[in-house]
Amino acid sequence: MLVDGFGRVATDLRVSLTDRCNLRCTYCMPPEGLDWLPKPELLTDDEVIRLVSIGVERLGITEVRYTGGEPLLRRNLTGIVAETAALGAEVSLTTNGIGLARLAAPLAEAGLSRVNVSLDTLDRETFKRLAHRDRLSDVLDGLAAAERAGMSPVKVNTVLMRDVNDHDAVALLRYCLDQGYELRFIEQMPLDAQHGWTREGMVTADEILQRLSAAFDLAPEPDEARGSAPAETFLVDGGPAKVGVIASVTRPFCGACDRVRLTADGQVRNCLFAREESDLRAALRTGASDDDLVERWLAAVAGKRPGHGIDDPTFLQPTRPMSAIGG
Ligand code: GTP
Ligand code: 5AD
Ligand code: SF4
Repeated sequence: MLVDGFGRVATDLRVSLTDRCNLRCTYCMPPEGLDWLPKPELLTDDEVIRLVSIGVERLGITEVRYTGGEPLLRRNLTGIVAETAALGAEVSLTTNGIGLARLAAPLAEAGLSRVNVSLDTLDRETFKRLAHRDRLSDVLDGLAAAERAGMSPVKVNTVLMRDVNDHDAVALLRYCLDQGYELRFIEQMPLDAQHGWTREGMVTADEILQRLSAAFDLAPEPDEARGSAPAETFLVDGGPAKVGVIASVTRPFCGACDRVRLTADGQVRNCLFAREESDLRAALRTGASDDDLVERWLAAVAGKRPGHGIDDPTFLQPTRPMSAIGG
């Protein structure tokens, strides 16, 4: 079991399959993109599956979530999903939805059970302003395809930015309720490559709830139902439909964290905000045995800090941006 010094057990493995992305969301990266990792530095499909197998078979991982960058850009994603599902883990995906219109059915067939899709606005001009690409309709088509392919629930992630898309919150919730998607609003975290995050600029969970309450009746679901999920959920207009708020900054949920991450270049990170990484790729490529890899992974998780520390005066934003860590 992957246990840390505070008794938390990591059972949810989040694997970034590429740091590349076909959008340029301003809360994530600059319009010109970033210096992507050179291909030889990425784990190969076989290396990914070897590490995931060790996680599932030796270390108690029960859920594997593939992320990016944009994981649909990974050539053999369907094959990777199929091999992961064959290990008996639940397999999910966090994606911007571009390409899902074509891939949702084969991915479902390969064993993908859940998908979380980023959607920050329903307005084409706002989308272009926020993501620097004119791809809103591709995202909406991707969502619809995921629903048709039977992924359940289809979740939507929205990061609100002040004076950019914060006025879209009510329309987004209406749309998601209509379509049967589970919407979660996310507080922006200091993980952008430009280091442009400010506390004042962040739209807080309280503000989001205030905006939504003007149009909907929201009733908090009991805390017991939450477990280690990052979202606080609210029944909308008496339910059963619900909406979530992921208040990573103002109401951190680190005490219940069950996550561990593997970057596209094979580094274990015990937290989004970790300051150290453990280089499993180097170990793999110099002939490490499964036992060696298990030892290294256990040690990496053992050193996990109690929380993200965003409120500490000594807080340092991670050198890797979100796109290179995995969402
Ligand atoms: P499920 O609840 O299993 O559907 O997944 P999820 O909500 O954890 O996954 P997703 O990848 O959709 O993440 C949604 C958002 O939660 C991300 O955009 C992050 O803002 C936030 N998040 C995910 N993992 C972490 C984490 O480890 N720490 C913090 N603070 N926030 C996280
Ligand atoms: N803060 C919060 N969430 C973010 N995401 C990307 N960057 C940030 C950030 N700085 C979200 C995306 C996506 C998920 C992987 O992470 O919107 O839904
Ligand atoms: Fe877990 Fe770190 Fe995220 Fe907190 S910030 S929930 S400890 S990964």
